[in-house]
Amino acid sequence: MAIEILQFTDLHLPPDERGRIWGIDPFARLQRVLAHARRHFRRARLALLTGDLVHEPDPRAYARLNALLADLPWPCRAVPGNHDDPRCMRATLSRAPMAEHLAVDTWRIHLLDSTVSGRSAGRLGAAELERLARRLRREPRAPAVVCLHHHALAVGSPWLDAIMLENASDLERVLAGSAARLVLWGHTHQEFRGRIGTVSAYGTPSTAMQFRPRSPAFATDDRGPGYRWVRLQQDGRFETGLHYVPEDA
Ligand SMILES: [Fe+2]
Repeated sequence: MAIEILQFTDLHLPPDERGRIWGIDPFARLQRVLAHARRHFRRARLALLTGDLVHEPDPRAYARLNALLADLPWPCRAVPGNHDDPRCMRATLSRAPMAEHLAVDTWRIHLLDSTVSGRSAGRLGAAELERLARRLRREPRAPAVVCLHHHALAVGSPWLDAIMLENASDLERVLAGSAARLVLWGHTHQEFRGRIGTVSAYGTPSTAMQFRPRSPAFATDDRGPGYRWVRLQQDGRFETGLHYVPEDA
């Protein structure tokens, strides 16, 4: 039977309950997205939160998120983004631990921390890369999903590509010849599809606000909040798609 997993990314929750970011209410949008996902993916096995869970690293924002996650029908795991404080996340977000590796039936899920303290761009440290390489080598036939916050392929938006994963070629080297099937990321607040060698790579829209594709400078887009679903087959094949959740969904 296929395994469904969900990806929610770039929540950008503010510290205050009614706080607004980019003129919208990220908490209300997240609630709308989660309500949609609950209706359509009740049997999903896992929800991945791929960074920028909060807009500013304030424990109140993580605590509010944690309370919201308590009601969900899926276990959650998280990776940090450049807006997060990994230490604060670890201390507050008990409902979405920052587990490094998970097994879901025949699949393996590898969660990477691509954040660099004080910087918007991302980088995978030598220890993180070595850990991933070791895990992929240990089970050379187990199909794998790799998740991180930062994009490892340029999206064609210069202001975003200036803050992408700096050492994307190191990730490509580790993935080459492995059983990794897909890479999932956030950070760019827009949908994206590409390939890292033979591995499919997907960018996922934000649950809060999208950024305008191919814009040379920061600009928002009015597509509304979104999330990704992935259906993993036992034999290593998969399908994936997105839902945007407009106001009246
Ligand atoms: Fe973000």
